[in-house]
Order: sequence, then C-alpha cells, then structure tokens
Amino acid sequence: MTKQNIYILGIESSCDDTAAAVIHNGKILSNIVANQKIHEEFGGVVPELASRAHQQNIVPVVTQALAKAKIEKEQLSGIAFTRGPGLMGSLLVGTSFAKSLAFGLNIPLIDVNHMQAHILAHFIDEEGFNKPPFPFLAMTISGGHTQIVRVNHYFNMEVIGETIDDAVGEAFDKSGKILGLGYPAGPEIDKRAKLGNPKAFKFTKPRVDGLNFSFSGLKTAILYFIQNETKANPNFITENLNDICASIQLTIIGILIDKLKLAVKTTGIKHIAIGGGVSANSGIRQALKDGEQKFGWTTYVPKFEFTTDNAAMIAIVGYLKYLEGDFSEQNITASARLKI
Ligand code: KG4
Ligand code: ZN
Repeated sequence: MTKQNIYILGIESSCDDTAAAVIHNGKILSNIVANQKIHEEFGGVVPELASRAHQQNIVPVVTQALAKAKIEKEQLSGIAFTRGPGLMGSLLVGTSFAKSLAFGLNIPLIDVNHMQAHILAHFIDEEGFNKPPFPFLAMTISGGHTQIVRVNHYFNMEVIGETIDDAVGEAFDKSGKILGLGYPAGPEIDKRAKLGNPKAFKFTKPRVDGLNFSFSGLKTAILYFIQNETKANPNFITENLNDICASIQLTIIGILIDKLKLAVKTTGIKHIAIGGGVSANSGIRQALKDGEQKFGWTTYVPKFEFTTDNAAMIAIVGYLKYLEGDFSEQNITASARLKI
C-alpha cells in the first residue's frame, strides 16, 4: 500500500476544556487546549458557563492548532469531533462547528466517543511510549469518569467495571473542598501527600461487589471525621493537613488497585493502560509500577498532555476510523450519555 498523507483535525468540547489537535498519519503535530478558569470560583464546572466559553474559544483554538501544525485547512483529510458523553451544551458547540467545517471543506466528518478516545490515546505515535498489545485492560480515571474496560481491539471494547456514584477525581476534589483546598484539589492533595504520613488516619474502603466502584461514602466518611476532629481541636486541619491528604490518597489508591487486581484475576489479562486526569497522581503511578513486581502486570501511562481532556486523543480515533472508512452523516447529533 502506498503511504497516505492523512491529516485529521480533532475537536474536543465535552466538558470545560476547548481543544483542537492535528494528527498527520499517527503523529500529533499540534495539541491545543484552552482551559476555562471561570469554574474555579464555583468549585466545579458550571454547564451554562462552559458552553458559552466553548463558543468564544473554539475558533481561536482551531486556528491555533492549524497554525502550529503548519497546515492550511484545505489540506485536511477529515474532521473528528467528540459526540459524547459529556455536557450537552458543551458538546453541541464542538459538534456544530465540526459539522459546518467538514461540510464547507467537503471532507469526511468522524464522530468520536470521548471514553474510547481516552483509551485509544495510547495509540498516538510518541517516542518513548509503548502501545499496549490487545487484549488489554484500560482504567480511565478522571473528574468525570472511573471505568475499567476490557479492550479487545480498537473498536471492540467492553466496560467491565465503573463507578456507581462519584468519579475518582470527584473524590479528590470533594475531599479537598472539605479541607478548604481550591478546585480542582487533586494536584494539591498529591503534592501534600508526599509530605505526609499515609498511615496517620484510616478511612474504611467501600464494599462494592465485582469490579464496580463507589466513592460517595468515602467523601461522607471524611466529612464526619473532619467535623468530629475540628470540634475537639479547631486547628485540626491546618495542623494535620499533609497527613490527612496522604491518608485520603492512600485510601483512594487502595480502592483502585484492589479492583485492578480483581480485574486481572477475572480476565487473565495483565496489560494495564491508564488514562484521565487522575492518572497524573504520583501515588497511583507508583502503585501501578510496584504492581509490575508484585503482581506481574505491565502498565502503560501515556504522555501527560494526552491523559487529561485533549483533542489529540480525538484526532487519533479520527485517524483510526478514517483508515477504516468509518464516517458520520451530516445529521448526526451530540449524545450526552453515549456509551462505549
Ligand atoms: O481528565 P481531566 O482533566 O478532566 C475530566 O475530569 O475529564 O481530570 C480532572 C481531574 C480532577 O478531578 C483533578 O482533581 C484530577 O483530575 N487530578 C488529580 C491530579 N491531577 C489532576 N487527582 C489526583 N492527583 C493528581 N495529581
Ligand atoms: Zn475525559
């Protein structure tokens, strides 16, 4: 087969990041993300504000992605966009933009499932990063998702476990809020955990059957614990903040690792790929690495910029679908609850 020259523009707008990326064959040429700072003061994403910010950001972000890739829009072979899951108002901005651009340029439009994209980000060509072999287990952990997926092939995957309430990132963020930390609190908890004693306080892990997760009970346990302790000592948080963070983090890591061990045991698959913003957590990375010795598994962690919400992961899925000729019709609609 002759080498093709395929350029795909990926567009991501499912939550609070407006992102665009250009991929040439399997290699990323540009990966632009505009974060929305506006949500920080509210301690969480405000859907209506997110949608409005996407409208303001999308044209500059796409323009920048094309400029950084040093290509003209006429050179594009296809436009890939996040169809879902996500916030409807946010998804609509990327979907309408992608449809219009593909129609105007008369090139294929390719819809992408955001959760599949978090997993397939591992197939971006990047020096120093190995691609997991099929079949593998993918654990997507972020502010919006917590899933364990059995990946048989690019577009043959099955969710074998997921959260029944909060996502793991929310467990970090909501715990942080109780402790008076800013939003999102995950990175700050991670930083403080390194300085604290993880065995200082003990929080019970939730009992959830099988491979599903639950994090809302942990948040409540932390809230009651803090309320109790501050009644006895009003300075309890400030005096013990690093130890509290380390203890919370250890509990969360324990929950994730226990489920991964069970997933490996039940599927017999020992290749584990992670994705999502929480995979930046240094404790989780260390626990996964330690597991290589302890449990005999192999782990795959993508480059950081491809783990949080980004458009490079949308572009790689667009590229893989382009190769298969799997295109969307112009009447396709965004889907807030799209499943894998
Ligand atoms: O993937 P992401 O950027 O956006 C989505 O939620 O889809 O993930 C953001 C989440 C937030 O909950 C944030 O607190 C968490 O990832 N996070 C971390 C760390 N860095 C980001 N959680 C723990 N440790 C970190 N180092
Ligand atoms: Zn995501």
